[in-house]
Amino acid sequence: MLGNFMSKILVLYYSRTGNTEKMARAIAEGAKNAGNVEVEVNYYVEAEELGKFDAILVGAPTYHHDMPMDMKNLFEEAAVKGISLKGKVGAAFGSYGWSGEAPKFVLEIMKNKFEMLVLEPPLLVKYEPDQNVLGMCRDFGKRVSESLIHVT
Ligand SMILES: Cc1cc2nc3c(=O)[nH]c(=O)nc-3n(C[C@H](O)[C@H](O)[C@H](O)COP(=O)(O)O)c2cc1C
Repeated sequence: MLGNFMSKILVLYYSRTGNTEKMARAIAEGAKNAGNVEVEVNYYVEAEELGKFDAILVGAPTYHHDMPMDMKNLFEEAAVKGISLKGKVGAAFGSYGWSGEAPKFVLEIMKNKFEMLVLEPPLLVKYEPDQNVLGMCRDFGKRVSESLIHVT
């Protein structure tokens, strides 16, 4: 790798009862440990800020068979403002109870509207992640970091 270039990863999540937040923190940890990356974990960012990241990982729990309104608003704002996310790496994850559509919807928008390079399948966890699942979350984060080493 040339110079001290560091890839930037955003782990953006919504979580009402903390399950998706636990996933987000484990994913961020895995991504950080994998190498030369800067990782920001946040529950809110302005649409304009999305442009500075090389990878955007969205944590979306499923409520009422849908993705959280916060995520819809962010994608809507990015689209209206013409913010380009083309070619950035995208991934989605989330806790769910029985149907778990939200991460799939997030990936569809990333791929079809924003032309991002999406990592499939999304990582889904039923209710609260246990130690085993948190290990899967760390691996998921690591895979994203490693994919950036190849594309940058
Ligand atoms: C009002 C309500 C509606 C829900 N609707 C769905 C649903 O449509 N599909 C599903 O898989 N889980 C549904 N769930 C379960 C949540 O996805 C689950 O509790 C998840 O762990 C919440 O994640 P969080 O702690 O990150 O907010 C619902 C839960 C509540 C309280």
